Amino acid sequence: MQSKCKAFRASILHLLGDPENDLDSEKIEYWEDGLLLIVEGYVKSVGPAEVLLKTLPEGCEVIEYPNQLIIPGMIDTHVHYPQIDMIAAYGEQLLTWLESYTFPTEKQFSDKAHAADVAQFFLSELLRNGTTTALVFGTVHPESVDAFFEEAERLDLRMIAGKVLMDRNCPEYLQDTPEQGYEDSKTLIEKWHGKGRLSYAVTPRFAPTSTPEQLAKAGQLLSEYPDVYMHTHVAENKDEVAWVESLFPESRSYLDVYQQHELLRPRSVLAHCLHLDDDDKKCMSDTGSAAAFCPSSNLFLGSGLFDVADFKEKGVRIGMGSDVGAGTSFNMLRNSSDAYKVTQLSGGKLSAFQALYLATLSGAKALYLDDKIGNFEQGKEADFVVLNYDSTPLIKRRLKAATTLHDKLFALMMLGDDRSISATYIKGEQAKF
Ligand code: GUN
Ligand code: ZN
Repeated sequence: MQSKCKAFRASILHLLGDPENDLDSEKIEYWEDGLLLIVEGYVKSVGPAEVLLKTLPEGCEVIEYPNQLIIPGMIDTHVHYPQIDMIAAYGEQLLTWLESYTFPTEKQFSDKAHAADVAQFFLSELLRNGTTTALVFGTVHPESVDAFFEEAERLDLRMIAGKVLMDRNCPEYLQDTPEQGYEDSKTLIEKWHGKGRLSYAVTPRFAPTSTPEQLAKAGQLLSEYPDVYMHTHVAENKDEVAWVESLFPESRSYLDVYQQHELLRPRSVLAHCLHLDDDDKKCMSDTGSAAAFCPSSNLFLGSGLFDVADFKEKGVRIGMGSDVGAGTSFNMLRNSSDAYKVTQLSGGKLSAFQALYLATLSGAKALYLDDKIGNFEQGKEADFVVLNYDSTPLIKRRLKAATTLHDKLFALMMLGDDRSISATYIKGEQAKF
């Protein structure tokens, strides 16, 4: 049972907008001794404890987390739940990695019991890492999506997922057809989209594994269901880009394949976006599509360096994606650490506040969910994370020497992992994991 009123006392940090790399941005709200007041699973107020404690409703429970930091629940805008059992697979880049490891692993999801077992582990792992919302790939099997949504619904999570559409250039055992993929997606949309906190994403894997007929069917689904998501990959790897050029010679670019099939619009999320030109970036901005920046995956597969500053300058929405199993961690602190290093390599800079923005409010904006999640504005769903400043001896020692909030958060991001997450709350209730 959800208790009506709960107040959480700790240091509290959230963002009201994009802080850029300004360490004193007015978009940063922070209280060293703060209070987050939750009523029936929604944020009622947030502010300094000494002020808010005086106005607490009678009978409101106060939960204290001394020397810990509360931030909004983190958002993973691109991840594959079926790839858990092949995470950290050695030695390949994208196309041979898919053939050698990914496809054989995904084959097992025709078995609903297997899918349910993996979905349960996956969601528990997300929560243990402080991720409360994700945009998730299933497999080609509709059972994979049923299993995922059943578990997400049981946990009352805000999740988005979809069945993969794939009708060529992959093993036959993973292929659907344009018609079957359309019918299965439609059934899943009718069953799950808008149920509780769940939403559906039409999910063509990537241009090489769909015929033009299948991409057209995906476009038809989007026109029939205007508020579902579109989730795919684009321009991750140079061999992949060359392959798409040969498969779709009439398209101006890889991204243009999706544009020509009317797949780009608000709530379209494209993972990677590493090898796009200025016209592509303008197209993403004009159509309201979002890029999922997947730093861990991009380093692991040797795919390339995403230029955060350039995409921001061009007005493209950006979220952070773990892209597990090509990414090697669900943890958004670990992904922020990789994001910082990617940015260093491309000659830029990524402050800890900027990384936090990507993992929270910017992700919510990429998913068009910033009216519901992403920070602690009044009325938002109370999904949040408690970060432990003392989770390892090294972090504890390093943070003693930190002189500013930024220094503290930056060191925590560079050194932290799942041990730094002391609790995850879903609509004001502590999640078990
Ligand atoms: N491109 C097409 N499929 C995949 C996938 O499963 N993972 C990644 N990283 N890229 C892809
Ligand atoms: Zn991916």
